[in-house]
Parts: sequence; C-alpha cells; structure tokens
Amino acid sequence: MSWACGRPGDALAWLVWPALPRGRPLLVVCGRPADGSLEGMTTTAVRIRSLRRHYGAVAALDGVDLDFAAGTFTAVMGPSGSGKSTLLQCAAGLDRPTSGTVAVDGIELGGLSERRLTLLRRERIGFVFQAFNLLPSLTAARNVALPLRLAGRRPSRAAVREALERVGLADRAGHRPSQLSGGQQQRVALARALFTRPAVLFADEPTGALDTATSRQVLSLLRDLVDREGQTTVMVTHDPVAASYADRVLFLVDGRVSGELTGPSAERVAARMTELEGVPC
Ligand SMILES: Nc1ncnc2c1ncn2[C@@H]1O[C@H](COP(=O)(O)OP(=O)(O)OP(=O)(O)O)[C@@H](O)[C@H]1O
Ligand SMILES: [Mg+2]
Repeated sequence: MSWACGRPGDALAWLVWPALPRGRPLLVVCGRPADGSLEGMTTTAVRIRSLRRHYGAVAALDGVDLDFAAGTFTAVMGPSGSGKSTLLQCAAGLDRPTSGTVAVDGIELGGLSERRLTLLRRERIGFVFQAFNLLPSLTAARNVALPLRLAGRRPSRAAVREALERVGLADRAGHRPSQLSGGQQQRVALARALFTRPAVLFADEPTGALDTATSRQVLSLLRDLVDREGQTTVMVTHDPVAASYADRVLFLVDGRVSGELTGPSAERVAARMTELEGVPC
C-alpha cells in the first residue's frame, strides 16, 4: 500500500495494512520503557515543521509549524476546507506532504521506508474517523483485534477485553455494530485505535455523527483517557463545546495556523469561530 492510501472515511484503507510475514519479529520502532515509566520519552509527541500539502493549485496546508506535547488534548478547528483533515492525515502518515517534516515520538516519518512507516502507524499512531469504520459482520472484540490480525498477530482475548474495558464496553464484546448505539460503536473504534497504546491518537470529527448526549459521553471518555492514561490526543471538530474538552484549541485558516486558545471555554471558541467564518456557529 502506498502513502496515498485514502482520504478520511476510507475505512479499509486505514485497516488493511500490509501483513508482516509470519514468524518474523516485529520491528519495535519506538516504545515505552518496559517498566512503564515515562523517563527517556520525548515530551513532544508530534512535531510538525514547514508542512505543506498542495493538490495542484490548491494549498491545503501552506506552511504549518506545530508541536503536540505528550499527554495533552488538542482540538483543531477552522472553516470547511481549511486543511484540518489534511493536517491529521499528514501527521498520521496516511498522506504524503508536498514538503516539510512530521516526527511522531521522535521518529521522522519522511525518512521511513513504506514498511517501517506501516509499523509505526500500527504501533504508535491511533486514528478514529467520524464514520466509526467498523466491519459490520464482526463482533466488537473481533473489530478491536482486526488490525493486528491482519498483520499476522493474534492478540489474546484478555488483551482485547482490557481494550474494551478501557472504553467501558467489556460487556459488549460479543455484539456486532448493528447491535450497538452510535456512541458505543465509536467507543469500539476508540478501543481499536488505542489497542497498542499509541503515542498519539488522531480523531477526525469523532462526534460528528453522534447526537448531543452521546457526543458528550465520547468526549468525556477522550478527556478521561488523557487525564488517566496521559493519552496524547488531537481531535478535529466543528463543535465549540467539543473543543472545550481540550487543553488547547488551534485554529486553521486557508492551510495556516491562525491562532490558538488555551483552557478554552465553548463561548470563547464559538466567538473565535464566528470571527473566522464571519457567520455564527
Ligand atoms: N484529494 C484531494 N484532491 C484535491 N484537493 C483536495 C484533496 N483533499 C483535500 N483537498 C482540498 O484541500 C483543502 C483542504 O481540505 P480538507 O479536507 O483538509 O479540509 P477540512 O478543513 O478538513 O474541511 P471540512 O471541515 O469540510 O472537513 C480543500 O480545499 C479541499 O478541497
Ligand atoms: Mg475534514
């Protein structure tokens, strides 16, 4: 599979990684120390410099410099077409920048072979989409295990159960997506994305398909994962209330960072978006 393996929403593009030959040791690109301590880890989970992504004459990203500190929750906002999804795709190694650099957990993505990039994505990067992207014929447990199974590994039942427990769905392991609510389906997608305890979780409008109450449950879970487990999280959203769950909100306009808010309230975020879009949110 090439770098250009799909735009947001291409469910299987994210899941169907090239399988590793069986019996060969996994390359550990980077990981937490065996004792689980944070000593020796970089404090910047994602580092982006001079990032540009052009589609013909369209500059989707036009020179972005950003750091996402480990253990923080960042929301990315901006008008439609401002480059939010492109930023996440490039930062997650799903899309190839035209120029500039992205480093995840201290590893420069641009310098990696296709195989190593695949391994880095699988082990150190989690991604959830608005559309959940679960396979309808598989149970929640099998959906969670699917990426690693496609890679020729066999995660234990206990590990899968623990992943579902982290999102409060241990009792739904045997349910298929059609037997789950939208919020529960997104939590299964989160369990799948977080299964390998990635250095960073990217979420592109993860509550965009959910009603208000269910959105709040998913956002509370994301916040809790940051607070409880130090899960670095970067979330695109159009919803000022969703953004207020984050530690910091970045605003993109025409492929550039146009400002940020720390400790954001929904009111301040909405006011900034109104300025940027020229219409009420
Ligand atoms: N594959 C592509 N080919 C051509 N242009 C593209 C492609 N993907 C994105 N673009 C363009 O790049 C710009 C940024 O798109 P992007 O999807 O990143 O915006 P966005 O901020 O996520 O918008 P939205 O809020 O509507 O999801 C847009 O002008 C879009 O039309
Ligand atoms: Mg988008």
